[in-house]
Amino acid sequence: MSSKTVKVKVPGTTANCGPGFDVMGIACSIYNELELTLLEENKLIIEIYGDGAENIPKDSKNMVWRCIKQLLDKAGANYKGAHIKMTNNVPLSRGLGSSATAIVAGLVAANACLDNKYSVQEIFEMATKIEGHPDNVAPALFGGITISAFLDGKLKHISFVPEFPLKMVVAIPDFYLSTKKARSVLKQNVPLKDAIFNIGHIAMIIGAFSQSKPDILKGAFDDRLHQPYRADLIPGMYDVFEAADKNGALGTVLSGAGPTLIAYTAENGEAIGQAMVQAFAKHDVKARYLVLDIDREGAKII
Ligand code: HSE
Repeated sequence: MSSKTVKVKVPGTTANCGPGFDVMGIACSIYNELELTLLEENKLIIEIYGDGAENIPKDSKNMVWRCIKQLLDKAGANYKGAHIKMTNNVPLSRGLGSSATAIVAGLVAANACLDNKYSVQEIFEMATKIEGHPDNVAPALFGGITISAFLDGKLKHISFVPEFPLKMVVAIPDFYLSTKKARSVLKQNVPLKDAIFNIGHIAMIIGAFSQSKPDILKGAFDDRLHQPYRADLIPGMYDVFEAADKNGALGTVLSGAGPTLIAYTAENGEAIGQAMVQAFAKHDVKARYLVLDIDREGAKII
C-alpha cells in the first residue's frame, strides 16, 4: 500500500448571517491548509503553523486527525497513522468556522488519499454529523453562500454567489469564545413572534439575493433567536453594530457563535472596519479587522 501526499485548502466561514441560525453560512476569502500523508505504521506526526497553533492539540485528540481516523475506519483502510501539516489563517475559536475547516480539511484530504471513495454529499453528511449543524461545514465544503437543511430526513444544501458586490468586514476581538458556551445561553423555547420575525427576515435575505436587490438587505440581517441572548458574552456588541451602520453597512451580525462581529457592505469596508475596532476599544476590547470577499470554490485540493 503506497501512501501519497494530498494538500487541501479550506475557507473560513461565517454562520447564521443573523436570522439564518444553524441554516445559513458564507465561505470567506481566508484559508487554512492541510498537507496530509497517510502512514501504514501506527505513528502520528502533527505540525501546526499560524493562528492559535500553540492552543491546538498535537496528539490523537487533534480534530483533523480524529476526522481522518473516522473516515479511514469507515472505509476499512489499513493506514494507521499520518503526517499532518496544518497552516492556519482562520482565527481560532472566534466564530469564523475554524472547527469546520479542520473537519472538512481532514475528511476531504483523507478521502482524496483513498481516491475519493466517498461522494461530496457523503463527506457533507459526515462533516455535519461531527459538527452537529451544517451551517459552517456547508460553505467550507461547497463555497459561496449556503443554505442547508434536512428535508424529508435528507441533508440538502443550496450554494450561490450574489450578482452584486458584497464584502464582509470582520471585526475580530482578542478573546476566545467557545461555541459550547455561546450555545449554552440560548433558549430552547422562543416566543412565536420572534420565530416569525426570523422567518420573515431570512426569507427576505434569500429573496434579495435571488432577485439582485441589495437595497432589500438593509435591516434584513436582524435576528431574535440567538444574538440577543449572546450579547452579554461580547462587550460592546450593539455599539460596534451601530458604528458600522453609521458608516454605511448594509447589515451587521454576530459571526457564527461569536465573538467576531461582521458588517456586510458593498463599499467603504476600511472605514467600517476602523469604526468597528474603535467601538470595541471603547469597551476595552482589543480587536482587529479584515475585509473579506465571498469564497466561491469551497474546499479544494491544491
Ligand atoms: N450556528 C452555530 C451557532 C454556529 O450559532 O451556534 C457556530 O458553530
